[in-house]
Amino acid sequence: MSGELRVLLVGAGRAGLVHGRNFAAGVPGARLVGIADPDAAALEQSATALDCSRTFTDPEKAVQDERVDAVVIASPTFTHAALAVAALGAGKHVLCEKPLASTLEEAAAIPAAAEAARGVFLMGFMRRFDAAFARAAERIAAGDIGTPVLVRSTGRGPGLPPEWAWDATRSGGLVAEVNSHDLDTIRWLSGQELASVYALGRSAKRPDIAERYPGFVDVVVATFELDGGALAQLDGACPADYGYDARAEVYGTEGVVFVGDARARAPLVVRAGSAETDPVRSWRTLFGEAYRAEDTHFVAAAHGDEQPRTSVEDGLRALEGVVAVNRSLTEGRAVTVAEAAVAGGSEPMSMGPA
Ligand SMILES: NC(=O)c1ccc[n+]([C@@H]2O[C@H](COP(=O)([O-])OP(=O)(O)OC[C@H]3O[C@@H](n4cnc5c(N)ncnc54)[C@H](O)[C@@H]3O)[C@@H](O)[C@H]2O)c1
Repeated sequence: MSGELRVLLVGAGRAGLVHGRNFAAGVPGARLVGIADPDAAALEQSATALDCSRTFTDPEKAVQDERVDAVVIASPTFTHAALAVAALGAGKHVLCEKPLASTLEEAAAIPAAAEAARGVFLMGFMRRFDAAFARAAERIAAGDIGTPVLVRSTGRGPGLPPEWAWDATRSGGLVAEVNSHDLDTIRWLSGQELASVYALGRSAKRPDIAERYPGFVDVVVATFELDGGALAQLDGACPADYGYDARAEVYGTEGVVFVGDARARAPLVVRAGSAETDPVRSWRTLFGEAYRAEDTHFVAAAHGDEQPRTSVEDGLRALEGVVAVNRSLTEGRAVTVAEAAVAGGSEPMSMGPA
């Protein structure tokens, strides 16, 4: 490919607009050339907001359009697999938002499509492009805390996601929607794979949603064994209301690394009888620079200037973790990721008791 990368945005919702604004503002070596979304109002608003006049109401056709070189998939999770396979098959570069898909069965065709593709495939784990998280990973990989033996990762979202995400069969549930990033963080920072998990979940704040979507949970905790012998713990919640909270801690044989802070970039104001700070309200703010770095890297990888820093395998391993956590929630027992991966490929997921 020569010249500017012609980028199509697929899905003009919350995540799509983050990428769309980056490309509209200018990512070196790329140009936003179209937006695809079946919702006419979303198309119209985003076309104006992103100053992009070419719109498509049929996303699956759009990702194969010859006027497009690269596709950013930011549509609902249950649409990712079909769109990614169609785009890769048509020779496009693909940046796929997390999670890879809502089930392993859906995801099954993506690795072969990515393997056979001319284009690159980048998984949208933006924490990997956050300067502090990346520096933590570097220090750990350099051996600065010895061998990692315990990883803790917290992911809490401020508000509820869109309603389609309340349905675990379409989104993978809270663990997929909010904590995919934590599953990736655990793998990335430890350098080990998820081996088994025991998880507990509750619909503590929104039992009304669990009545409509059986298995909906708004708080979850999961304890993992990793394949290199380390332990890991994930906690997730949504809606947390107080803000977006993404933190990790890696305890090693020779030290500990802390990364992430709910008060990031805000001063602490202390007055007689009170101390207060401004929490980070949104993932868009906390990871704004990381999304820009991710989009910039996607373009550089598509041009062949950089090796993709996340892969379809990263997406798949995190999704296997999602399936294992959900199975543990449903069955109330420890589950190996291997058994969940085998079973998850052939049956729809459901979430545990409310
Ligand atoms: N990286 C992150 O931190 C992050 C943050 C938010 C969302 N996400 C992910 O991004 C994806 C979208 O989530 P969202 O919150 O933006 O959803 P959303 O509901 O706000 O937006 C989705 C958009 O996609 C459109 N759409 C529906 N079906 C489509 C299809 N078949 N093809 C193309 N577009 C379609 C909808 O009309 C809507 O405009 C999800 O997979 C979600 O998990 C990632």
